[in-house]
Parts: sequence; C-alpha cells; structure tokens
Amino acid sequence: MKKFMVLLTGIAVLGFTSCGTVPERTENPVQTPMHASALSASAADETVDAENIYSVQDIRNLQDFLLGKPVEKPLNGKPYDLNHDGCWDVFDLGLMKQKIQAKPASDMLVVYFSRTGNTEKIAQYLIDLTDADSYVIEAAVPYSDEDIQYQTDCRANREQNDKTVRPEIADPIASLDGYDTIFLGYPIWWGQEPRIIDTFLESYDFSDKTVIPFCTSGSSGIATSEKNIADLVPIGNQLAGRRFPASATKNDVKEWVDTIPLNKETAETRLLLSVNGQELTASFSDSTAAKELTEKALKLKAICRKYNVPLIVNDDVRAAIDSSADGVHVGADDMDVAKIRKLAGDNFIIGATAKTVEQAKNAQAQGADYLGCGALFASSTKQSAKPMTPDTLKQITSTVTIPVVAIGGLTYDNIDIISGCGVSGAAVVSAVFAQDDVKNAAEMLKEKIKKLI
Ligand SMILES: Cc1cc2nc3c(=O)[nH]c(=O)nc-3n(C[C@H](O)[C@H](O)[C@H](O)COP(=O)(O)O)c2cc1C
Repeated sequence: MKKFMVLLTGIAVLGFTSCGTVPERTENPVQTPMHASALSASAADETVDAENIYSVQDIRNLQDFLLGKPVEKPLNGKPYDLNHDGCWDVFDLGLMKQKIQAKPASDMLVVYFSRTGNTEKIAQYLIDLTDADSYVIEAAVPYSDEDIQYQTDCRANREQNDKTVRPEIADPIASLDGYDTIFLGYPIWWGQEPRIIDTFLESYDFSDKTVIPFCTSGSSGIATSEKNIADLVPIGNQLAGRRFPASATKNDVKEWVDTIPLNKETAETRLLLSVNGQELTASFSDSTAAKELTEKALKLKAICRKYNVPLIVNDDVRAAIDSSADGVHVGADDMDVAKIRKLAGDNFIIGATAKTVEQAKNAQAQGADYLGCGALFASSTKQSAKPMTPDTLKQITSTVTIPVVAIGGLTYDNIDIISGCGVSGAAVVSAVFAQDDVKNAAEMLKEKIKKLI
C-alpha cells in the first residue's frame, strides 16, 4: 500500500529526497517555529474524520512544508496526518492526492492575488461558498512592504504606471483545462488590477471560459479593471464583477454569489425598455436560459446606447448587471429593492412595481428610482395583473416623490385616463409593438402622452 502511494507521488518524492528534508517517519516533523504552529493544528485535527475536502492548494502547502520551503499559509484547519501515524510525510501527500482524485472535480476555480490579505479573505469565503478549487497567484519576485509603499516611488506604482509590465508568476498553474468558471480576485492598485493579473490573463486561453472578477480596495470601484480585463484577452463570457471593502463579511460574499447564475437555471425572458423616460416592455415568454436573456440584453444595450436610451431589464437582476444594463425593474415578489441597491450601486436605475400606497412608500424608502403602477386596463400581455383605479394612482403619486409610470392595457385611444393622475410617463407593449407601423405608433403615443402629463 505504501509503495503504491510513493509511486503516486513519484515526482514529489524525488524532490524531497534530493533536498534531504523528508522528516523521518518516527521523527517529530517540527522544523521551524512556523512548522511548529502548523503541527499543533495537525494534532488538534487528529480527531477529524477522513471526509475532509482538500484542494490543490493544500497539496502545494504540504509539499512545500515537506520540502522545507517557507509555507506562507499556516497549515491549519485541516488534518494533514491522513494516515494518523504522528507525522506528516509523502504518504500523507499521496493520500491527499488520492482524495482529490476521488472528489468530483469542480468546474470552478478561484484565482487570486493578494498582497496584504484582504482579497485573500474574500477569496476564502468564495471558495467555501462555491466549493471551487483555488489557485494563488504569487510573484516570482515577491512584493516587499517597500514595494507597495504607494506614497513613494515604489515598485507597485512604477508597474501600475506602465501598462506593458508583466511581473513573472512564481509557480504558474499548469493548465486551466477542466475549469469553466474562473473567479479572478485582486486588490485595486491605482484604480486598476495589478499588472501580475495581466500576466496571468495572458498566460492562458479564456476564450471558452466564464470569468468573474472580484476585488478589494480602499474605495475605488471595479469598473476600470473590468474593462482592462475585457480588453486584454478574448474571454468567452465575462460576468459583472464585484468590489468588496476589506471589512466585507462572508454573508456579503454570499449575497453576491447567490445572484450569479452558476448553475445555469432557466428564466423567463422579459425586457422593459425605457425610451426617453417612457417605459416599453418587450415580452419573450418562452423559457430560455437566463444566459440568453443576458445575451439579448447585451444586443439591446448596444442599440439603446446608440440612441442614448437607457436599458432597463425586467425582473432579472443578474441579467441586468451582467449585460451592464442601466437598471432593472422588479415586481413586489422579486428581490428587495434595498438588496439590489446594495448589490448594484447608486448609479443603477431600480424601478419597482407598486399596487398600493403602502407598497409605493416602501419601494421609495428602499431606494427605488421610479414606480410602475397599474394595471389601469386589462392587458393581453399580463392577464394576471390586478386592476388599479385612477384614484389609487393619484394617491400614490401624491404620496411619493419619485416618478410614477402608469401601466396596464394603455393604448392611444384610452391613454387619456392618465390625465390628472400625476404620473411622469406611461409604459406600453401592444400599443406600440402590436401596431403595423411601430415607429409611427411610438411617435404618436409619445406626442399624446406629453400633452397628458
Ligand atoms: C500600490 C497600491 C495602490 C493602491 N491603489 C488604490 C486605489 O487606487 N484605490 C483604492 O481604493 N485602494 C487602493 N489601494 C488599497 C488596496 O486596494 C486595498 O488595501 C486592498 O484591499 C488590498 O488588497 P490585498 O490585501 O488583497 O493586497 C492601493 C494599495 C496599494 C498597495
């Protein structure tokens, strides 16, 4: 059995032997104070059963330890003495590798660079939450404290000032094959990703991968680095990233992860276009994947940008964020407005449906930018919509201070109902899209609405 394990770890064994650092099997493996702290973790872990999950990083840690290399991460929290013989050795490494091979492979990888530990903390939360594998980007020439003294002419500053610098990576991961989704984490350095992230990106093929950036920073956002990443190499699908402060909790990371369509669940495809302040809903009621909605929104966004019209995606917050739409419109049963605001930031437009004065006040208090209120008439595009009287609409508009858009079965002929209701606009579908001449119908309706509000 032990022979088999040695074979499994053949290359590593050769390395250890030549370095002469393999601890004797009867010896206490403690070699340095750092290793001593690691050993106490191992002893404490003896009682933990063998079902622990190990990552490639754990193998690397144990291997470094056995080679007598400095172990940057303390070997704690996991039982490294897999065969319970009182010391850590290549047999444990072999067993660990076996476990990794037996474990169903994750198609997700969390890759991160972290100089002072903030990004690493977020990455660890992410790894725990997604059960992804992990890989730490380390510089071949590590960044010393002086190297990141950004008030001085330090190495980090010089690198950030030169877009062509590509710091060498110490121990590049051999291949990204087998990983479909890569979370890529880094600190913000002068508003951007550290250049070593560019080294990483240029070292592999991401053209069929989903890449999800995340970062930590003092205050800067992630947008510039997201654009740099998108411009640097072809990426199959780059999802909207997330910036975290150093103080972010595991729950903050969870809230973000929960919005990411990692398991490709299906979703209804409905879009609501906001055209110069007037809302237009386009409905695709087939059950295509959420990804397709994002793709549609991306195409629509390109058109909307051309005509300087904001794009609001209906219901699907993730698709709205992933397509860099200008906002999302949510119903009373969808995600809380406050939650979306926290997730998407202040510049994101959030519209909320309100059927009552209470709902309207609540949505405004949570940070909604506008309200959609109706249905003033029955609508073939939403037969389940509950009717709303013009009186209720008036009560809502006189209670809230944010714009209110009337909706529900509105046509050129019946739209006079909004007169005197205090609304800022009207949302329609059929009144435009079901007409033979869509452009003319939109123009006429727009003219009429202008006179009514
Ligand atoms: C060289 C350098 C430049 C930085 N530039 C910015 C910046 O432009 N904006 C910002 O908000 N924070 C900036 N920071 C702060 C880091 O982004 C922040 O401390 C981050 O959480 C560090 O992550 P880490 O612990 O994973 O290395 C900078 C830090 C360094 C060292």
